[in-house]
Amino acid sequence: MASNGRRILTIDGPAGAGKTSVSRRAAGRLGLAYLDTGAMFRALALRLGPGGHELPAAAIEAALAAMTFSLAGSGADTALLVDGSPLPAAARTEEVGGRASNLAVLPVVRARLRLAQQALGRQVDLLAEGRDMGTVVFPEASRKFFLTASAEVRAARRLGQLAALGKPADYEAILAAIRRRDDQDMHRAEAPLVPAADAVVIDTSALTEDAVVERIVAEASR
Ligand code: DC
Repeated sequence: MASNGRRILTIDGPAGAGKTSVSRRAAGRLGLAYLDTGAMFRALALRLGPGGHELPAAAIEAALAAMTFSLAGSGADTALLVDGSPLPAAARTEEVGGRASNLAVLPVVRARLRLAQQALGRQVDLLAEGRDMGTVVFPEASRKFFLTASAEVRAARRLGQLAALGKPADYEAILAAIRRRDDQDMHRAEAPLVPAADAVVIDTSALTEDAVVERIVAEASR
């Protein structure tokens, strides 16, 4: 139980480890709202456009100050709203993910979004998903998970997702993009991607999505 009385669970891990669908389903099973914090970085990337991370810090801060984040619905159906609207499908591309990762290096971005994430965690019981949820944003969370998988497995899954969307892509290009993003997310100075000392680490490489959800629900219910 967090100090404010809210129940918070965290799921962190690298791009493509299956966090988003697992987190959404686990939130539904556990009766928690679901917060996709990567979507907040992606929303900023869309707002600023390509090369946004090279803008002056004041311009980035002004864009962030003008953005409002809220949650609608509950459980697996929770939606993150940015200025009252859900994110467009364009936010989900690997290209926007890379731009979000570039912005996520900047202290001004991390500080603003951390405050917005913590404010949401004061409003509702939450399953928060991202890179630094258990380490930095909600260190007091009652249960913490870290999902991982080999870069090759993650690239193959991403390829499958894109194919299902009718967007065939090149495996080697996806693998290179995932490795680049891992490297940047793991080696940045502020809030790098690492498992919290008290996180349950789950390697999903050889597990089905159902198995990962069951494991999280079982651990969280103990
Ligand atoms: O989870 P995602 O792929 O939607 O995240 C996009 C990028 O946003 C990710 O590469 C790094 C950044 N991010 C972050 O730095 N901290 C978070 N809590 C969530 C995402």
